[in-house]
Amino acid sequence: MNPNSATTKQVEAFYNAHPYPPPVDNLDNYRQRWQDQGRKEADFHLYWHAHPYKENLSVLVAGCGTSQAVKHALRNPANHIVGIDISETSVQHTKKLKEKYKLDNLDVYQLPITRVSELECTFDKIACTGVLHHLPDPDAGLRALHNVLNPEGALNLMVYATYGRVGVYMLQDYARLLGVEDTDDDISDFANTLMELPPNHPLAPLLGQLPDFRTKAGLADALLNPQDRAYTVPQLFDFIHGAGLSFSRWVRQAAYLPHCGLLREIPHNTRLTQLPIEEQYAAVELFRGTILRHSLIAYRNDSQNMREAIDFDDDRWEDYIPIRRARTIVVKENLPPNATAVLINQSHTDTDIYLTINAIEERLFDAVDNQHSIIEIIKKLKLDKKKNKSFVRTFFKRLWYYDQVVFRTTLDI
Ligand SMILES: C[S@@+](CC[C@H](N)C(=O)[O-])C[C@H]1O[C@@H](n2cnc3c(N)ncnc32)[C@H](O)[C@@H]1O
Repeated sequence: MNPNSATTKQVEAFYNAHPYPPPVDNLDNYRQRWQDQGRKEADFHLYWHAHPYKENLSVLVAGCGTSQAVKHALRNPANHIVGIDISETSVQHTKKLKEKYKLDNLDVYQLPITRVSELECTFDKIACTGVLHHLPDPDAGLRALHNVLNPEGALNLMVYATYGRVGVYMLQDYARLLGVEDTDDDISDFANTLMELPPNHPLAPLLGQLPDFRTKAGLADALLNPQDRAYTVPQLFDFIHGAGLSFSRWVRQAAYLPHCGLLREIPHNTRLTQLPIEEQYAAVELFRGTILRHSLIAYRNDSQNMREAIDFDDDRWEDYIPIRRARTIVVKENLPPNATAVLINQSHTDTDIYLTINAIEERLFDAVDNQHSIIEIIKKLKLDKKKNKSFVRTFFKRLWYYDQVVFRTTLDI
């Protein structure tokens, strides 16, 4: 892709006028939340289950917007962060926050992703969220990122999802037909018009749900973006494979699995679970119909990270150390019969995705301390291993499916 192409210039001008996310000048609460060591470890092992926890990572935030690179620098002072963005306004906001928080571990440059190799460094982790779908040639962007990823590095990619955004694309077409521009007056007018949208329009459920529509910058970003495409699950897999990358996992996997929520109960459940795994994800995306964005973790094809995936088919799971994920809560009210608690990951948006547990499962869950392996938990609770093995295995598998835990496995790479 030519970084001077007309579309790239349009995208640059758009994000200069409407920096995204809307600029903030205080990230004290964000920094405070990330003081929690458990949160850091869960985040690390989401990316690398077989590596020992470490802090001194080199991290690229590609298309960092106004604050994402700063957040990475704040949450892990021992990491070295490089932020790049095509928009000068976004870079300036990032620099202001860097100064405010005295972040010596952050460098920021105005640079298009396709020229990232000019930095002449490679990275352990790359975050590129909400960016590549705005490039005229996303494949070229992803290949450029692949080329600066260390062999055992991990990439967090987030791109828009096709079906959940049908209403967004309808209103984008509508705005084009009417010649709505990204001026203040046109955006206000558009926002007021949207308040009259019929309640059964495909965009209607998103208007209240997405933070995007609550600000002018957000509304412009969603509906007036000069360049925006989306991916179905199969298109997404083609996209990452085409760049020499392999899928590791979804950042939040429950919404893609036939083992979670209402999908468990449907008559097609067995047929779904018999499909090859990528087709399961594709079918669940079609059935749910509401996935708005895909957020995944990928490795280089030649990475050792792919050597052993999380698996419950042999006995390795007994040595996995479960680590609680952030934003999970235990609810004790309005429980169904025989349940003692309901586990919810608050980052899930589908209301059917929650895990109901009974007394013995609750004891197992309470024993998760981010230090001990599943077999040690079984011993600590004095459970008869032979009698309970299958039950315990199923429970930890479900905790993992439902994004309640990640695992630290014993295989050191
Ligand atoms: C929707 S914002 C997302 C910002 C940030 N990643 C986040 O999640 O908060 C998209 C950002 O990508 C940047 N961008 C778009 N095209 C780019 C390119 N070719 N190279 C680098 N940055 C780009 C825009 O300037 C904008 O700041």
